[in-house]
Amino acid sequence: MASDAVLKVGIAGLGFGCTEFLPTLERLAQIEIVAGADVRQHPLDVFESRYGGRGYLSVEELCADPDVEAVWISTPNQFHAENAITAAEHGKHILLRKPMGITMEECQRVLDAVERNGVKLLAGGQTQGTSPLTHALRKVIASGELGPLRAINIWAYTGWMLQPRMPQEVDESLGGGVVWRQAPHQLETIRYLGGGMVRSVRATTGRWRPERPNATGYYAAHLEFEDGTPVSLVYNGNGYFDSAALVSWGGDPNPDRRVKLRAALLAGEADEETAKDRARFGSPGENASVGGAADRPWMPSNLGVYIVSCENGDIRMSSAGLTIYDNEGMREVVVPQAGGAGMALDSEVLELYDAIRADKPLFHDGRWGMATAEVQWAIIESGRQRREIMLEHQVPVPPGF
Ligand SMILES: NC(=O)c1ccc[n+]([C@@H]2O[C@H](COP(=O)([O-])OP(=O)(O)OC[C@H]3O[C@@H](n4cnc5c(N)ncnc54)[C@H](O)[C@@H]3O)[C@@H](O)[C@H]2O)c1
Repeated sequence: MASDAVLKVGIAGLGFGCTEFLPTLERLAQIEIVAGADVRQHPLDVFESRYGGRGYLSVEELCADPDVEAVWISTPNQFHAENAITAAEHGKHILLRKPMGITMEECQRVLDAVERNGVKLLAGGQTQGTSPLTHALRKVIASGELGPLRAINIWAYTGWMLQPRMPQEVDESLGGGVVWRQAPHQLETIRYLGGGMVRSVRATTGRWRPERPNATGYYAAHLEFEDGTPVSLVYNGNGYFDSAALVSWGGDPNPDRRVKLRAALLAGEADEETAKDRARFGSPGENASVGGAADRPWMPSNLGVYIVSCENGDIRMSSAGLTIYDNEGMREVVVPQAGGAGMALDSEVLELYDAIRADKPLFHDGRWGMATAEVQWAIIESGRQRREIMLEHQVPVPPGF
């Protein structure tokens, strides 16, 4: 590849989240990792020795590096908007992980900065809405072979609230809790499958657990698309039950471990910072599960078990793809890497790359990211106000996707 075609990227936030996309960035010939930023020195030292790149103690300094063309932002949620605006003002292109901001005003300021500075923004980075399975499902729906889409039902039960968490991850005012952190996996998928335009949200949210008093651990939401298609959506991250047990090839991975984690949290004996650090970039136990995994079976994880209903059939996830139930019977559609990477990392990186180098239109642009953040915001608001919230910032899936 010609050297001027290679995109030079900087990574903001060398914690856990970046370990999910770094293997992809390392592998793709179109990308060169040249700089990183974090407020902790240790990951910067590892970063410099691993990539030969430059390490900075602030996102501002990273964005001022003239060699950096695009910034991958994986800092805590409360910094997303601020970091994205800094990058835009330095003329850098941006991949911003979900959520785009934690208020509609923050999202709007990011949009304005991106437009004012003429840079490209891919928002929503790396949710299950970009997975090979979701793409395959959309193809079946769009083909019309089962008739029009009529309903989507999703249930996720996870141990998210029991995992080691930094204070901001369990403080909703800083973008913590399952609505800000986990709902995008479901919402990006649903919006893609249903065409993007959610009309309204009625939701109930729950903070039941004394070990995490400031974080929403449960939500149940009823969404309606503009065309009337309903979505019923549940996420329970409190960690008593795991929806992996709802698929025949799954089973509950380790219920006793969750009991121990909760007991330690309740007793105030959990050292969460040390535990979280074990899986972060540069630590001996650095998470390598996403980039390396290829063909393991699909599991519900943060998306949950879901059934898509069309007029003439239902579709569910199987271990290796989709199972379709229609008027002829039941059949399997094998989807390569259905469960492996879990997320379509390459397609997302290349979506941004092609937008920058070939001026191709982005699907997951700032307006799309703001629309997903609006549904997250509406779930919280509807739970608080106990009424239906009408949405104003929705955008459709662009033609060709
Ligand atoms: N699959 C996914 O979509 C997924 C998975 C995990 C994390 N994430 C996202 O990644 C982001 C970070 O979460 P995490 O779990 O990796 O947390 P983390 O704490 O492990 O990582 C955040 C990193 O940012 C650094 N940091 C904090 N403040 C900073 C600042 N002001 N400037 C520069 N660096 C700063 C921290 O030191 C840390 O290394 C969140 O937005 C989260 O939603 C997404």
